[in-house]
Amino acid sequence: MSQVDEVIAQRLDSSVPLVGQVARYIISAGGKRLRPALLLLACGALGYQGAQRFNIAAVIEFIHTATLLHDDVVDESTLRRGRPTANESFGNPASVLVGDFLHSRAFQMMVDADDMRIMQILSEATNIIAEGEVQQLMNTHDASLSEAGYLQVIRSKTAKLFEASTRLAAVLSQNTPEIEAACADYGQALGTAFQVIDDVLDYDGDAGEMGKNLGDDLREGKVTLPLIIAMQRGSQEQRELIRQAIEAGATDELSKVIDIVRQTGALQATRQAAAEQAQQAIDAARRLPVNNYSEALLQLASQLLERRV
Ligand code: IPE
Ligand code: IPE
Ligand code: MG
Ligand code: MG
Ligand code: MG
Repeated sequence: MSQVDEVIAQRLDSSVPLVGQVARYIISAGGKRLRPALLLLACGALGYQGAQRFNIAAVIEFIHTATLLHDDVVDESTLRRGRPTANESFGNPASVLVGDFLHSRAFQMMVDADDMRIMQILSEATNIIAEGEVQQLMNTHDASLSEAGYLQVIRSKTAKLFEASTRLAAVLSQNTPEIEAACADYGQALGTAFQVIDDVLDYDGDAGEMGKNLGDDLREGKVTLPLIIAMQRGSQEQRELIRQAIEAGATDELSKVIDIVRQTGALQATRQAAAEQAQQAIDAARRLPVNNYSEALLQLASQLLERRV
């Protein structure tokens, strides 16, 4: 991971000072570096030790960082990684444009790998992420969004990059289609579980630990699984209150909505849905060679539900 960070630092160079300033601001705040870690773990599981893994891991973190810069503008979020967001500190234009810089830098680095499959996987992933974010935008304030509609969005906006991270390990190690499918299945299921838990934490987390604010989803009228389940389980009156909060995107009702989400057991049920996805990730990881790295992938999936950050 320190070698990945080295590549990241080297590839942030730009003759325009604001680029480095904004990019370093968000990157130096940390983040879990989960996606590059997944790629390295999967490479380890498959016995690939080429230096290209550090480059591709950095590419993935750049794409992730670009999506965060854009996401915080779209979500009007003010806190990320325990600091004011880049949009809060530098404004929306700088955040959007530096996001574009990181995104295109990632593509320059991808070309260095000189492998059409890698280009294919990453260009498809970035395109699907963008599509998922647009689909989510279209779904805002729609209280009738189904669980299937919700799942489709999170598979695209979040799970796709996890899937690409682990799939690329199979491509780098020139593995069989079966191993590639196992890697991809693991990433997709883990990424889905990861976002489901993120959506729980938006209601039930600790802002200090997470480094981001709670309640952002409801404020913007975003319909996530805790709300969908609370509406299914609540009384007519409770359902109506949630519907109005979704349609108005109001935070005045946040504490009442949280109460309903808790009373109906929706958080627990949402965690259960994440557990089912995590189990799918575990099943997929069992199709990989058995070693310390695949063991770590298994542990990651089994501990994901406990994440608070
Ligand atoms: C945040 O991802 C965006 C989501 C997909 C929920 P992470 O929680 O991985 O963000 P960092 O990189 O650790 O800050
Ligand atoms: C994940 O969704 C966004 C991306 C995949 C870019 P959120 O909007 O819930 O992410 P956070 O909670 O702001 O990190
Ligand atoms: Mg957001
Ligand atoms: Mg968002
Ligand atoms: Mg979130």
